[in-house]
Parts: sequence; structure tokens; C-alpha cells
Amino acid sequence: TSTPPIKHFLQFSDFTRDEFEYVIKRAAIIKRKFKAYEVYHPLVDRTLVMVFEKSSTRTRLSFEAGMHQLGGAAIYLNTRDSQLGRGEPVEDAGQVISRMCDIIMIRTFGQDIIDRFAANSRVPVINGLTNEHHPCQVLADVFTFHEHRGSIAGKTVAWIGDANNMLYSWLQAAEVFGFHLNVATPAGYEMDPSLVSTTRYTRFDNPSDACEGAHLVNTDVWTSMGYEKENAERMKAFDGFIVDEAKMARAASDALFMHCLPAHRGEEVAAEVIDGPQSVVWDEAENRLHVQKALIEYLLLGRIED
Ligand code: CP
Ligand code: NVA
Repeated sequence: TSTPPIKHFLQFSDFTRDEFEYVIKRAAIIKRKFKAYEVYHPLVDRTLVMVFEKSSTRTRLSFEAGMHQLGGAAIYLNTRDSQLGRGEPVEDAGQVISRMCDIIMIRTFGQDIIDRFAANSRVPVINGLTNEHHPCQVLADVFTFHEHRGSIAGKTVAWIGDANNMLYSWLQAAEVFGFHLNVATPAGYEMDPSLVSTTRYTRFDNPSDACEGAHLVNTDVWTSMGYEKENAERMKAFDGFIVDEAKMARAASDALFMHCLPAHRGEEVAAEVIDGPQSVVWDEAENRLHVQKALIEYLLLGRIED
């Protein structure tokens, strides 16, 4: 193996399709090793630092467990217990943290924060969710689609609900992989055009129409982290946007349902859908572990001939 020049994963469009195809292939191999209890320790003595400025269950667990499984160590930092919460400049944090570890994951608010951190980092930085992007989740979701249905290229994916970090990462994925998004967001909660750099989508006012013929129906919470003050107002505006059995019936007969979790049954998704036969939400969650192990391996070791 050879060590590649430092590369970050700050948004989905940072990788080419060829790089994603490599990472997805590795994720499948790494997943098989894990399921077979095969010891695979390519990252002995390597350390991942995880910086969390927002809550997490899946992201923390998958990165921390994943790094241990690869033979390395993971350190958890949050805003409250570190100097980040007391106003240490993010540029200084990037300089200091990156001198003590081999790779960094950050979950924070504005994308500008992770961009400034990465510009000052001597090691690769991975976006574990910002207000604008959640690329690791969409990578896990594309891998999950691939496992269930094969390539996502040329397919139609419906996005029902908020124009949030997940949608912007899905839009970038549509451009990279060559699929189409049908997007239905409520009035007043439309996409921010400055975050959209693809034409591979169609806007729908009616969420049921957006599901027509889709191979995958996708939704997410109506109130993302950091927007809690808008919750009551959002509950009213999003009325009618629940993904229920009637909307799933408009999709292709073999359509999958995805949700990055955590979910709110009775709000953005009906229990019959998320707990029903078309739902692959637990696979999406598990696959965070496998794709992120492949991502870390790629960022630290480059391509492995295997
Ligand atoms: N889907 C996801 O990123 O979950 P957590 O907020 O629990 O990390
Ligand atoms: N859009 C959600 C995703 C949570 C994993 C949020 O940002 O809170």
C-alpha cells in the first residue's frame, strides 16, 4: 500500500464515482470479514478523534466501534467538555487535534466550520454531519441500495419532507452516480439553490406525486438538530408529508423505504411503512459501520490490492 496525499470527505462531491465504487467494494469485503469474525487490523496504532458538537447514537457508535475493529483507537470529544465550547478558534483546534491523531471526524453546525477546521488539519477530516451535508449516511444508503437492488445509476429516488443536510447529500449523490431525485418539500421549506449544483431532480408540490414510480422513497425528521425552535411551526407546515402506505403504493412495486434515523412514527413516517417489508432502515444503520471502515481505510491507506 502507498500513503496518498491528504484527502478529506467534507461533502459527497469530494469523491469521484470511481472512488465511491472502490469504497463500496471494500465495504462489502470488510463487512464479510466482520460477519465471519475475521480479525482485520490494518490500522494498529492509528487514532481517530471524533468531535461532536451535536448529539449522536449511530455516528458515534459506528465510528468508534469501526476504528477499534480495524485495530486502531478512537477518542470522543464534545463541545461541552473541550475548549471548543469555550471559544477556542476552530482553526487552532484543527492545528492541535490533527497533530495528535491520524484521522478526524467532526459533527458540527455550519459547513464553514468543518471547512475551516479541515484547512488547518494535517490529517484527513470526515464530515459526520453538518447543517448542510451528511455524506457518510448517504454513502451507507447507496451501499444499502446496492446490496438490495444493485446499482443505483439510472434509478428514481423520492425525497419527501425537509430540505435538509440529507437531501443536499442525496442531490450530490444523484450527480455523482447518475440517478434522478423527485423532491417534495412543503411551502416555505424549499431547497436553498446555493446548495444545489445538479439538474438531476424534479420539484413536486404534492408529495404523493413525487413517489410515482420511485425505486426508493426517502424521508427524514421534520426538525433537524439545531432547528428545535422552529418545531411547532414545522409540524403545521409539514402536515400531509407523512410517508404512509398510500404514498408507498404510488412507488414501484419493489420500492425500498429509507430513513437515516432517528425516526418519529406518525410524523414523517407511518409505523406501517418504517416497520413494514419495504423498509431497510436497520440495514442503513448497520451499514454506517461497514462503509465508514472502508472510508477510513481508503483515506489512510489508499487503495488496497486484495
Ligand atoms: N443517522 C445518524 O447520523 O444518526 P445519529 O444522529 O444517531 O448519529
Ligand atoms: N437531518 C437530521 C439527521 C440526523 C441524523 C439532523 O440533522 O438532525
